[in-house]
Amino acid sequence: MSRKVLITGIGGQDGYFLAKLLLNKGCKVHGLIREKPSNGIGSLAHLEESQQSQLILHESNISNKGFIDELVAEKQFDDIYHLAAQSSVARSIQHPRETIETNILGLTNIATSIRDRSPQTRLLFTGSSEMFGDITSGKQSESTPTQPQSPYGLTKEFGYQLVRTYREHYGLWAATAILFNHESEFRGQQFVTKKIVRSVVRIAAGFDDVLSLGNIYAKRDWGYAGDYMDGVIRVMERNEPDDYVFATGKLRSVKDFVNTTFSHVGIDLDWFGDGIDEIALNRSSQNLVVKIDKHFYRPGDIKGTCGDASKAKLLLGWQPRTNLSSIISKMISQEQDTTLP
Ligand code: GDD
Repeated sequence: MSRKVLITGIGGQDGYFLAKLLLNKGCKVHGLIREKPSNGIGSLAHLEESQQSQLILHESNISNKGFIDELVAEKQFDDIYHLAAQSSVARSIQHPRETIETNILGLTNIATSIRDRSPQTRLLFTGSSEMFGDITSGKQSESTPTQPQSPYGLTKEFGYQLVRTYREHYGLWAATAILFNHESEFRGQQFVTKKIVRSVVRIAAGFDDVLSLGNIYAKRDWGYAGDYMDGVIRVMERNEPDDYVFATGKLRSVKDFVNTTFSHVGIDLDWFGDGIDEIALNRSSQNLVVKIDKHFYRPGDIKGTCGDASKAKLLLGWQPRTNLSSIISKMISQEQDTTLP
C-alpha cells in the first residue's frame, strides 16, 4: 500500500531529491514549505511537471506549533521526514537565535505532535556531522562523542539527543540520519561548493574576475545529495529505528575543490603566497583568479570532518555512488544552463 508521507523543508536541495524518489516509489507526498518563500517553490521547480502536480504543499513555518499539531492530527501520516532547518553554519554564528528557533523548536514541535496526536507515525530527522566537531582520531561514526563548535552544530546535537530520547523513553519510531556534507546541482548559494562552481563558470565565460574565499585548508567529506536521500529512505524502511552515518569516507580540502573545478573548465592554476596573502593565477593568462578574504573565515571553523558509513553499508546495503568529479560536472552543467546570460 502506498505510504502517506510529509517532508518538512521540501523546498531545499534535499527536498527535491527526497520528493522525487518517494513519488517514484508511489508514495503520496505532502510537503511543508515556508510561508512566502523568497524563491517560490525552490528546488521543486526542477521536478517534472507531472511530479510537481502530485505534490500536496502546506505553507507554514515549522515553529508554528498550532499548525503542525493540526496537520499531524488530521493527516495521520505514515512517515515524516524532518528536513526543515536553518542549515548554514556561517549564518548560525551571526543569527544563533533564529537557528535555535527553527532547528530546536521546529523538531520539538514535530516530535511532540507525533507523540501526542499520531503515535504510529515514523519520524526521520536529518542530523549533521557538525555535531561531532573536528576529527580527533580516525573517521567519525555513530559511536564518536559529540563536540559541536557552532550554534548550528549545537542544534543538530540537540536534535540527535531528542530523537534518541523520544525513541528510547516515549516509544516513538524515531531515527537520525547523520549526514556529512552533501552537494548537488541544486545546492544553495551560501555553501562553499556552489559559490566556487558559480564563480568558476562565470570566470571561464568572462563575466567575473576573481573568486574570494575564506579558509581554503578546511577539509570536508563531500558526497552527493541524491545518494544521501536514497540512504535516508532506507533508514525509514527498516523495522527497527536507529541512527546511521552517511558519508563517503574521503577527505578533500576546499583548495582541492577549487583546483578540480577550474580544471573541469580547462583552467590550470598556479598558487603563490601564504595565509590571507595566498592567491592563484590562471596559468595561461596569468590573471588573478582566486584570493583570500578574511571576512569569510569563521570562528570555531571545523578544520576537518570525515565519516565512516560502515553501519549504513552493512545494514542498509547503502553505497555513495557519485564521486566528487561527477558531482562537480553536474554542478557546472546546471550553472552554465541557469546563470550565464
Ligand atoms: N560558505 C563558505 N563560503 N565556506 C567557506 C568559504 C566561503 O567563502 N571559504 C572557505 N569556506 C570553508 C568554511 O569555512 C568551511 O570550513 C567549508 O568551507 C565548508 O563550508 P560550507 O559549504 O558552508 O559547509 P559546512 O561544512 O559549514 O556545512 C555544511 O555541511 C554540514 C554537514 O553535512 C552544511 O550543509 C550543513 O547544513 C551540514 O550540516
